[in-house]
Amino acid sequence: MPKIKIAVLGTGGTIAGEANSAADVLNYQDSQLSAADTLAPLRPYLPGNVELLVVQISQLGSENFSTDTWLGLADAITRLEETEAPDGFVLTQGTDTLEETAYFLHLAIKTPKPVVVVGAMRPATALSADGPLNLLRAVQLAASPLARGLGVMVVANERIFSAREVTKSHTSSIDSFGSPEFGCVGYMQNGEVKLHRMPSRHHTMDSPFNVAGLHSLPKVDIVYAYAGAGCESIRAFLSHGARGLVHAGTGNGSISSVHRAAYREAILRGVPVVRSSRTGSGLVSRNGAMNDDAFGSVGADTLSPQKARVLLCLALTLTQDAVQLQCYFDNY
Ligand code: SIN
Repeated sequence: MPKIKIAVLGTGGTIAGEANSAADVLNYQDSQLSAADTLAPLRPYLPGNVELLVVQISQLGSENFSTDTWLGLADAITRLEETEAPDGFVLTQGTDTLEETAYFLHLAIKTPKPVVVVGAMRPATALSADGPLNLLRAVQLAASPLARGLGVMVVANERIFSAREVTKSHTSSIDSFGSPEFGCVGYMQNGEVKLHRMPSRHHTMDSPFNVAGLHSLPKVDIVYAYAGAGCESIRAFLSHGARGLVHAGTGNGSISSVHRAAYREAILRGVPVVRSSRTGSGLVSRNGAMNDDAFGSVGADTLSPQKARVLLCLALTLTQDAVQLQCYFDNY
């Protein structure tokens, strides 16, 4: 059988976490075990032709990730691709911002090879730790020719999700990852890849975003809408150099009159405003709750506020024009 080389990049998180007791699934230190340690329990179950190339990138809880972290990961994958030419990639990380990293890489890296992002909800020391099985499935998926060309995927609890649609939806359950409305793209049935649908939007090789050589991304902030919200956060973000704003709006991305006044100033200063929804599902329709054509805002389509921020960070490397930005939100 031909050898299959999978690069495993470790960054920390609960999958590398340790508690004092095997019964403790809540009070633990994340980012303690090395990526090599987290792989040890599953090595006996890997086919003999799968060779792992393990690279420890960091030991960092994902709540501490930044746009610089994403750029570093894209660079690490690109360099490994050039120097080691693995057949697929697995990235282990904390679950808290896993969906943001996955969507960033889905848009930014240029490879048709499978890239699987994986984490765990329980520390490695737990009686029923979910990390080893999730990680085994991630390696199996990354090694599968069926996963080629699908962009970045997330594996959790035996399901395969596309990076654009996946979200963490529970604070502590092992069944925390899902894709509201769209569902998973397939299952890992006892290690076999069972695909049911393709990712719906452009990614990786078909994406215009190229982060090679970039040392930073434009600063984009998220403004949360709630009853009685003032415009202090918008003003503060602008005065701290925001180059784009994502509105986490009520309902269909509606904007209160107080926020409207502050956003108008932002748009006049050349800072684009993207309307998303805090509801957790559904499509923010252009010219729906708001006349985007007249106001100069952009609809986030089905992207959550945190995913809309990822796309806006990348889109702003190419344009500030609201019409062009809307095209990106309609297609990516
Ligand atoms: C983290 O995101 O690093 C901590 C939480 C987790 O991994 O589940």
